[in-house]
Amino acid sequence: MIKYLGSKRTLIPVIREVIRRIGGVRSVMDLFSGTARVGHALKAEGYRVLSNDYLTFAATLARCYVQADAEDVLDDARKLIAEFNRLKGAPGYFTETFCIKSHFFQPKNGERIDAIREAIAKKGLPPELEAVVLVALMEAADRVDSTTGLQMAYLKNWAPRAYNDLELRVPAVLPRAREGKGRAMCLDALTAARQLEADVAYLDPPYNQHSYLGNYHIWESLVRWDKPEVYGVACKRADVRLRSSVFNSRPRFAAVLRELLHTIRAPVIVVSLSNEGYLSRSEMEATLATLWDGAGEVLTIERDFKRYVGAQIGIYNPQGKRVGHVSHVRNKEFIYVASCRPLAEALYELAQTGRGGHGQATCLPEETVLRFRAGRFSIHGAGDGP
Ligand SMILES: C[S@@+](CC[C@H](N)C(=O)[O-])C[C@H]1O[C@@H](n2cnc3c(N)ncnc32)[C@H](O)[C@@H]1O
Repeated sequence: MIKYLGSKRTLIPVIREVIRRIGGVRSVMDLFSGTARVGHALKAEGYRVLSNDYLTFAATLARCYVQADAEDVLDDARKLIAEFNRLKGAPGYFTETFCIKSHFFQPKNGERIDAIREAIAKKGLPPELEAVVLVALMEAADRVDSTTGLQMAYLKNWAPRAYNDLELRVPAVLPRAREGKGRAMCLDALTAARQLEADVAYLDPPYNQHSYLGNYHIWESLVRWDKPEVYGVACKRADVRLRSSVFNSRPRFAAVLRELLHTIRAPVIVVSLSNEGYLSRSEMEATLATLWDGAGEVLTIERDFKRYVGAQIGIYNPQGKRVGHVSHVRNKEFIYVASCRPLAEALYELAQTGRGGHGQATCLPEETVLRFRAGRFSIHGAGDGP
């Protein structure tokens, strides 16, 4: 799966355990699905998963990993991926924008991305099959990029992996879940919450002002294939400035989260937030305590994680000079469970034991962390604004 800021890769065992211990769960909605890895893990457990994210590439990841079922798409996907892996490069928008105007990919790989993306567009595939091959292309491109895992900037000197040849692999699409077919939506979380209903709602909203569209603009352009105007050194899509999320706004976050929580139609709500988010633990617990006219129960599970030191990208100036230092290397992830019914004793035990999910809270490469620590590398593009 792609490198993604705030991805819950290492928190998945805890999330899975929380949902098991809630008991009697058949369906889960994931309103901020990102890489879809949480939805994928829950689908593998047999739950019916309803995923949503407001970005097109993220909804495409969910259409592949949550909505598409292996028995429907994998035979065709394998053939298409073998065909695309044989395609020769042909320079186009992608090469010009992300290999020549900026240096996110080596031109040899950009040319192949152009050729494969045009071939996908020409085939007019059914949406689930198209999502699977787009994800194969996105993940292949992610393996040969020259970034720290964020697309707000590229490395001044090529990352060693950028020299590798682009190669598509078949994504790990799962068979239909025991509890029914999943669904992927591409809506604002509030709109999705008005449309969906499930036994559990899982919420993993953004936790700071950095827009996911700005951080992953290349995936949005690759998936939409709308060849937009770009700006700045990092060649961000022009609409990065327009499509902001209220969940990235410090002054608005608390109110919009509260509105979302009160809109959700699920008897149990699980929220992931770190101690670096906009709301403190006590503020979050107080907000959740207002649900169901104050008659619900709220439990907080706390886990300690290695911090993504690369998040300190802001302390490098646009010339790549280090202008600050990292303050701390560990953070806490909180998993809040709010329920309209009394929670199972087994959940309280999980909160007390501290078992499961220790590790690194993000899915960005460890070498990024080391390089940031050593202050040895520089980047281009971090001064482009949103
Ligand atoms: C912390 S990430 C989720 C990570 C995900 N749980 C994972 O493991 O990959 C937050 C996600 O919220 C999405 N998002 C931001 N604002 C949103 C909104 N208003 N409605 C829906 N999704 C939104 C972002 O695109 C991003 O993918």
